[in-house]
Amino acid sequence: MSEKRVKFATKLGIVAAAAGSAVGLGNIWRFPSQTADGGGAIFIFVYVGCILFFGIPLMVSEFVVGRAAQANTAGAFHKLSPGTQWKWVGRLGVLTGFVIMGFYMVVCGWTLDYFFQSLSGNLHRVSDFTTNFNTLLSNPLRQILWMILFTGMTAFFILSGVKKGIEQSSKFLMPLLFLLLFILAIRSVLLEGSSQGLNFLFKPSMEHVKPTLFLDAMGQAFFSLSIGMGCMITYGSYFNSDINFTKTAVQVSLLDSMVAILAGVIIFPSAFALSTNAGTIVDELVAGGPGLLFITLPELFNQMPLSIVWATLFFCLLSVAALTSTISLMEVVTVYLNEEYRLSRRRSTLLTSFGVIILGVISSLSPPFFNMLDVASAKFMLPLGGLFISLFVGWYLDRKLVSAQLTNEGTLNYGVAFLKVYIFVLRYVAPAAILAIFIYGLVG
Ligand code: TRP
Repeated sequence: MSEKRVKFATKLGIVAAAAGSAVGLGNIWRFPSQTADGGGAIFIFVYVGCILFFGIPLMVSEFVVGRAAQANTAGAFHKLSPGTQWKWVGRLGVLTGFVIMGFYMVVCGWTLDYFFQSLSGNLHRVSDFTTNFNTLLSNPLRQILWMILFTGMTAFFILSGVKKGIEQSSKFLMPLLFLLLFILAIRSVLLEGSSQGLNFLFKPSMEHVKPTLFLDAMGQAFFSLSIGMGCMITYGSYFNSDINFTKTAVQVSLLDSMVAILAGVIIFPSAFALSTNAGTIVDELVAGGPGLLFITLPELFNQMPLSIVWATLFFCLLSVAALTSTISLMEVVTVYLNEEYRLSRRRSTLLTSFGVIILGVISSLSPPFFNMLDVASAKFMLPLGGLFISLFVGWYLDRKLVSAQLTNEGTLNYGVAFLKVYIFVLRYVAPAAILAIFIYGLVG
């Protein structure tokens, strides 16, 4: 089977596909709401720490496992450690992917809904954006239809194959999204009264610190980088033998964090500037949580000339960013069914989509269920998966194999020190940090 495995065609395509998986609603929808909830700058500080200390090393580890095994997430553990219980880490990953899709697709549906609202000009005529968003939330049928449509779109790309589907779509739309975010960030910062928002974002204050700060930030880091469930294992299995893992992981993480920070620079300054009641704005932000993106941004667009054009373009590109993420999630579950149960790719895709739609329907009908899937995946399942992946690569895997993967069979010159530090991080630093944050988050 390994000879037949499809590869990504170009190096740019690889970074684009991995970055396409990482950059999504996690950056533009979840990051701002988590940041608001977590007290602003202090949250970002911890978040960046998580990316550096275990985010990047873990992403590299997933690449190592994937390319070494040339198999799906569960199959990879099976292949590299036959007859052991490590296969459960892969299975947990597949389950996690499923759980994430169960609420993520609903938010994708909101994005599509907003795209059509702006395309039709309706968004332009709204006077109260909070009410506008709540109207959508109180209409499960509307949410369900969009969610099903988005799941169908994802399935379509999965069926059209790895190269064509994932690579082509990521390659030129991502830079366009980046450019648009940049323009919006400038517009937002130039609004009168925006400086308070920038302070909230960049000036740490202990005022709003919560006991769950570390767990929340860690969860966001895992979620945003698409690590902890083997998404990057699956993508790693498509990588060519000359791909530099460390470089790719650094590039993807940098890009991902930049998009998240840009989203913050768009949303917070405009939220502060456009708020009618500056006194309660932070409370409002926290309460507004999940809706921040869908309430504040349309308000910002309304301040701009040609608002229909900006809003339509934004929600279109956001849908694309979300799509490259859902493709990576669905790919994990689909290839698993395809390779482990010998179902055809088409059947695997249909089965996965069907399951996702069921979870999505329940999430649309029940906000507590939606929240439960979000919390369970980001703050529990992903860090747990990450913990085991770092132990697996740090302790179980043969050092020679790891080093061969990291240095591309010795063609990359990293030196012994680099490898030592890397293994040390995986053996001790990452597991200890994840475990400590877990325990602190649960008892704190
Ligand atoms: N990282 C994506 C985002 O920020 C979501 C995502 C895609 C993901 N694949 C994943 C999250 C795998 C965790 C694991 O929107």
